[in-house]
Order: sequence, then C-alpha cells, then structure tokens
Amino acid sequence: MTRPDTTQSDAFVFFGATGDLAYKKIFPALIGLVKRDRLDVPVVGVAKAGWTREQLVERARESLVMNKCYDDESFAKLTSHLRYVDGDYADPETFQKLRTQLATAKRPLHYLAIPPSMFPVVVQRLHEAKCTENARVVIEKPFGRDLVTARALNHTLHTAFPEDCIFRIDHYLGKEAVQNILYFRFANAFLEPILNRQYVENVQITLAESFGVQGRGKFYEEAGVVRDVIQNHLLQMVSYLAMEAPANTYAEAIRDEQAKVLRTIRPMSHEDTVHGQFRGYLDEAGVAKDSNVPTYAALRMYVDSWRWEGVPFCVRAGKSLATSCAEVMVELKNPPQVVFKEQAPSMGNYLRFRLSPKVVIALGTRRKVHGEKMVGAPVELSVVEEPPQGQDGRMDAYERLLGDAMMGDATLFARQDVVEAAWAIVDPIIQGPSPMFTYEPGTWGPPEADRLVTDIGGWNTPTP
Ligand code: BG6
Repeated sequence: MTRPDTTQSDAFVFFGATGDLAYKKIFPALIGLVKRDRLDVPVVGVAKAGWTREQLVERARESLVMNKCYDDESFAKLTSHLRYVDGDYADPETFQKLRTQLATAKRPLHYLAIPPSMFPVVVQRLHEAKCTENARVVIEKPFGRDLVTARALNHTLHTAFPEDCIFRIDHYLGKEAVQNILYFRFANAFLEPILNRQYVENVQITLAESFGVQGRGKFYEEAGVVRDVIQNHLLQMVSYLAMEAPANTYAEAIRDEQAKVLRTIRPMSHEDTVHGQFRGYLDEAGVAKDSNVPTYAALRMYVDSWRWEGVPFCVRAGKSLATSCAEVMVELKNPPQVVFKEQAPSMGNYLRFRLSPKVVIALGTRRKVHGEKMVGAPVELSVVEEPPQGQDGRMDAYERLLGDAMMGDATLFARQDVVEAAWAIVDPIIQGPSPMFTYEPGTWGPPEADRLVTDIGGWNTPTP
C-alpha cells in the first residue's frame, strides 16, 4: 500500500470566491489557518462577477467581521496572499489567467465551491490549461444526485485527478464531536464489548434544525433532506457508530471500515421511511408552488452484520423543527428484572452523544434512592464541553478540513466507495414518489413518523 503524498500544497485556489459559501465558511477557515501559521501560500479566488481584487478583499473583510474572526494583523497577512481572477468558467482564457497567477506553484489545491453542474467544465479547463498536474481538488457535496450520477461525477474527476488527490468534503467528518464518537467507542474498554446486538436495544440519531431553508430554496428544491444531510452527514455518523475497529496501522483503515459497514445496511424502502414538509415551505423563494420535496425524513434502518443484526437504527432529520440540535442515543437493553422489579420499561441505560449546540457525552444509569426500600431512579452521568470561545463547530470543521487537504490527508474526507455505498442505501427512497406529510413549524415533524418507532418506545426527543 502506498503512503499518501503529504507534500504541502503551494497554492490555494477557490472557485466561487464571490459566493455564499466563501462568505460563510471559506474566508473564516482561511483566516483560521493564517492565525495558526498554516497558510503561507498564494490564495487565488476565481469567480465570474465582474469584480476587482479590491472588491474581493472588501468582501473578505465583511465575511470575517460578520463571523467575528476579524483582526487587523491576520487580515493583512491573508490579503497579502490574496489574488483574484475574474472570468467565465467555460472560457479557456480564465484558466490562462489562473495559470499566470499560479506562477511557479507545483502542487496547487483547487477548491470547487461552485454548483456541481459546473464541475465538468471547470475540471476540463483546468486540465487543458495544465493546472492539474500534481494538483489536488476539493469538492463540495452533494456528490451526484444518486448512485448513477455520483459515478459519472467521479469519472469526470478522474479524467484529471487521481483518487488520492480528490477530497470530497463532508463537514460533519471535520467536527470534533463526530470524531469523538469514533474515539470514545474505541478508546474505552468498558464500552466496546456492549455495543452490539446482545446489549443494544436500538440506536437513534436526530439532526434537528429550528430554522427553514434560509433563502436556499433553489438549492433545497434540488436536494431535499435525504440528499442534503441524510445520505452524507447522518450516514457518516451511522458508519462511525456501527463500524468495526479500524486496524489503524495503514492510512485508509478508517475509511475501509466505513465502506464495509455501509455496505451491510439494507437499502431503504418506502415502508421504513416517512417524508414530511413543513407548512410554509411552498412560500419560500425559489420553491415550486406544488413542490413535493421533503424537508423532513425519518428512516428505520438495519445493519445486516454479525454485530448489529436485528437492532433498529432510527434516523431523522428536518428543518423548522422544535429545536436545533444533533444527538445520538444508543439505548441499551434492560437488565433482567429478577432482582429489582421496579425498573422503568425503557430508557434505563443508554449512551448519549450530543453533538451540538454543546458537546455532551452521557451515560444513562439507575441508582438507588435514599430510604429503606430498594427502589431506584434514573441518573445521568455526563460530561459537557463548551466549544472554545469565538469559534463555532462548523467553522472549525472547514478550517480543519481545508488544512488537511492542503497536506494531502484525506482521512476525514468522503471516499468514493463510501459515497457510493451511502447512495445505494437511499437510492430506493429518493427515486419514486412517496407520501408527503405536512408538519407544523416548531414541532418534531409529522406524527406519522411515530409508526417507525412504536415498538421501541417512541422517538428519543432531545431536550434543549
Ligand atoms: C449542510 C446542509 O451540509 O449542513 C444544511 O446543506 C444544514 O442544510 C447543515 O443546515 C448542517 O450543518 P451544521 O454544521 O450546522 O449542523
């Protein structure tokens, strides 16, 4: 097995420099890298906006102020590296200008923060302009719209870049809290022996957002909740929870285990899925008046492996729900009721990971209450971590991932076989028409989703 090339990229190019993603995430990530002395190379923004470099500098300043990470010294350093190429993505001349800006760079990184429909032409033009030799490319999800188009996209990328130079961003993999699922599982001797069908009753994962589509109606119409967060963020989390211990003696060990476990998940059926749409979605800008795009989905999945056979993995995600939070709950089976017969029917013992807004790791236990009788009550043992001041988990994730890509470390990026395994799971439910249930904003989604969890005591509703 060859080791990945860890030569530092010597130029950072980002397409879509005047866009929303650059404003919200890329500039804050870049300044973070500058502050940690991890970015000392030309930074070239590319866009078709008719802008000057000065306008881009101003945009960067606004972004950093808005994201509360501006300081004069770091900004001066970042802008000393910042260059700008304005031009059409289909025009070869744009790429000649880029070639000139890259000057002597031998290992540039190209970040395509642009709509996926533009990927083929940009990759082709980069190649023609000889900007792809020894280069790396970073792309944003969604990686295709289904299994077939994901493969086509991969084919396009491979015309210019070898696999070890392709970095598919799923920012959940860059979150500390998500990495902690993996770490906590395999760094604690007491836990690993019980995470299997002998002890686990069910696993639930909730990704709830209290806001709607926030002006991204056009994008959302093409995605819907399954393509937007379930096929990627949630299934990455499922894979970390359900996978076998990675060997970790070779570079691809973690991603190999992710791919293996995702391949054991039964493809979804409409029977085990409930789709919902929040009331008011149809009035959002960019949304079709008769849109049938789901803003909520609940899935009951099965991991057909030796470890997990028969354990339901219930996953739900949605916009305009009661609160914003991401939480994983592993509910354990009750101990035999022969000694203390007063135990609650469920929720006695569990393991809980809260990923946001705060990071919490908790164990649900029971202990005896004071008094003569042998009766107990639930008590949760928990560790709560506040994210470091001034940084939000999401920004950290982008900074971490872009820094890793510059060093050629793809561990926290989605590998193509993992992406394909995830599409294979959700493909059956994104293709065909399915019943759509309207739910009120500020609730936990359509009540129809309860049918998926009746036999396991209902949904775990994360508390604020
Ligand atoms: C993005 C989705 O990938 O993840 C958004 O496109 C979603 O719709 C976001 O809101 C959630 O990320 P986070 O980091 O805020 O939990």
